[in-house]
Amino acid sequence: MEIIVANESHFKYAQIISDTITESAKVRGTGIARRTPEYIIKRLQNGNAIIALDGDKFAGFCYIEVWGNKDFVANSGLIVHPDYRNQGLAKEIKKAVFNLSRKKFPDAKIFGITTGLAVMKMNYELGYKPVTFSELTDDPEFWKGCQTCKNFDILTRTEKKMCLCTGMLHDPKAQKQKTEKVNKKAFKRLKSIKESLFLKKKQK
Ligand SMILES: CC(C)(COP(=O)(O)OP(=O)(O)OC[C@H]1O[C@@H](n2cnc3c(N)ncnc32)[C@H](O)[C@@H]1OP(=O)(O)O)[C@@H](O)C(=O)NCCC(=O)NCCS
Repeated sequence: MEIIVANESHFKYAQIISDTITESAKVRGTGIARRTPEYIIKRLQNGNAIIALDGDKFAGFCYIEVWGNKDFVANSGLIVHPDYRNQGLAKEIKKAVFNLSRKKFPDAKIFGITTGLAVMKMNYELGYKPVTFSELTDDPEFWKGCQTCKNFDILTRTEKKMCLCTGMLHDPKAQKQKTEKVNKKAFKRLKSIKESLFLKKKQK
């Protein structure tokens, strides 16, 4: 398995990346924003994305986006093809995109928003902390990326203060912390509280 910085030679994978994201969003039903092949191509060409390839087969992908005058970067769009899941590949891709972010944007805070326990666990291991959305970028372009998520109405209703996703932040200036394991029970409880609060209101 090759885990490398993507470039123009990987444009041919834009369609399968986009399709894999769309299919996964359908299966999971929440918290994954759709990405068109055109959108993926832009991410492949600027040296800010990581792609995993098994020979010439697409296996996984994640990209860096820069927000608010390079004060913040997000590691977004993490996707592993179903054929390659549960083998530690997402962890490797996350690590590679995190290291690339640190190298290219050493002063930026690295953040992400997620509804997924897998991503939360990986972020924890990389030293991210859960934070409220007020600690994340206020760049409107970032939040526009949520428009294709099926929970976007919740984000709008709460004036971007909260949603089903949990915000997580790695601040390079904060003291280096011990590696912690995410508290699975607490995360699941938080998620179910949010769902019952927000999704109930939605049905009224
Ligand atoms: C989420 C996803 C990227 C995980 O990829 P993967 O290669 O199977 O993950 P890994 O094998 O590297 O596992 C990393 C960790 O997450 C855990 N994990 C993986 N899938 C999980 C799941 N569905 N639920 C809970 N934990 C999960 C693993 O047990 C592992 O934890 P550990 O280190 O404590 O053992 C993949 O399932 C995927 O592409 N899903 C659809 C897209 C998606 O949800 N993207 C995230 C958007 S926020």
